Amino acid sequence: MFGHKVLLGGMTAVALVVAGAALAIDPPKLGTPAPEMLIRLFDISIPPDGTGLPAGQATAKQGEAVFMARCAACHGERGEGATNDRIASGIGTLQDEVQTFKTVGSYWPYATTLFDYVRRAMPYNAPLSLTDEEVYAAIAYVLFLSRIVGETDVIDAKSLPAVKMPNRDAFINAYTPG
Ligand code: HEC
Repeated sequence: MFGHKVLLGGMTAVALVVAGAALAIDPPKLGTPAPEMLIRLFDISIPPDGTGLPAGQATAKQGEAVFMARCAACHGERGEGATNDRIASGIGTLQDEVQTFKTVGSYWPYATTLFDYVRRAMPYNAPLSLTDEEVYAAIAYVLFLSRIVGETDVIDAKSLPAVKMPNRDAFINAYTPG
């Protein structure tokens, strides 16, 4: 299912190396418009409403293999934390006086941020190496570990923005009055 390396993942990694080499030779050309290719490499932000989410889809069931291969070493097999952070569960602990767990499940207000963040920054030791399908798969599994989505729920550009995160309403938008 994830055999064909496509879209942003592999291509971006290669292009970044190429762009990096070009930048190493050329000093920054301040005042010169950046090439379209370079802009595309950095213009990958996904806002809360999910605008710009790419094609592709996966369920947590499919995501388990990706998570075990690419994430579990650092985040634990159930996202409970290993050498690095706990990223799952902990829901409802933010007000706990003894121990709080600030995780994707307990803290993050938007599920779409997961796509943005994992695509650009994870795995920590190989960012931008996942295909879009693999990103959907890994984050479906992360959401499933916190029981925010079901094991066979299809996560894609349409369903991800509709996922309501448990802590969504505890945030105040300081920029919108009222
Ligand atoms: C080599 C270790 C390593 C691997 C592999 C790895 N991560 Fe991470 N992850 C980290 C570190 C370190 C951080 C904290 C980064 C920071 O704060 O700048 C992090 C942070 C995160 C966060 C943000 C947690 C928060 O609440 O701020 C998420 C989500 C995440 N990783 C998901 C993943 C997923 C999904 C994968 C697999 C595709 C993955 N990680 C693979 C080391 C790793």
